[in-house]
Amino acid sequence: MSRKPIIAANWKMNVTPSEAATYLDTFLANYTEAQATDIVIGASFVTLPKAAELIGPNPAVSVAAQNMSHEASGAFTGETSAAMLNDIGTDYVILGHSERRSLYGEDDAVINKKVHATLAAGMKPILCIGESLEEREGGQLENVLRTQLSGSLADISAEQMADIVIAYEPVWAIGTGVTATPEQAQDTQKFVRSVLEELFGGDVAAATRIQYGGSVKPGNAVELLGCPDIDGFLVGGAALDPESFAQIVAAGTAG
Ligand code: 13P
Repeated sequence: MSRKPIIAANWKMNVTPSEAATYLDTFLANYTEAQATDIVIGASFVTLPKAAELIGPNPAVSVAAQNMSHEASGAFTGETSAAMLNDIGTDYVILGHSERRSLYGEDDAVINKKVHATLAAGMKPILCIGESLEEREGGQLENVLRTQLSGSLADISAEQMADIVIAYEPVWAIGTGVTATPEQAQDTQKFVRSVLEELFGGDVAAATRIQYGGSVKPGNAVELLGCPDIDGFLVGGAALDPESFAQIVAAGTAG
């Protein structure tokens, strides 16, 4: 089955609304053949409305939030709801990023609630999973990923999986400059797909897009994307430069 590549920028806590205008001017002038790839810009809550407005209706480029409350509304100071994100035209919500898990204590149970809330609002989760170096070296890789997938996707139906993207991001490769080798990424993503098959069946496993994230750069994007189970990227540092992100997107359209 051929899966359309999905290449996402995760700006993290970078890029002000004014900086987004400069960035998107350059990026939108530089990306190529976008129809062949889904492109997503993951901006902070404050920058998101500006990014959505600047991108406008665009069949290839969408915007993502980097987090969301699972609560619908009410007394939750500092939180942002699905309805608020929907209102400004948010398409995707990045959920369960390792920084949310490790720095803000998000566990699979709360991430699962957020996945349900995102889908209920008609948006698409980009669900992040990944192991630490200690877990990989301790032989826990498969256990960790299976637990994250089954917990975060609890009570999700096979039909709902059509709207979910998985991002495999080994924690040891995030922001470190150490990229998983294509073999490591491919082997692990093949395993992730096998877990999706256990949970949802072969058709869902074959159709689900699985991104790789962790020190993706223009120089390693083509080789990584050549791996059969890598369907795109979630890019941090290298996506802060619009020309470098455009080159990574071009890798997605080359193959
Ligand atoms: P880097 O590309 O900076 O390693 O970040 C990856 C990431 O965490 C994307 O969500």
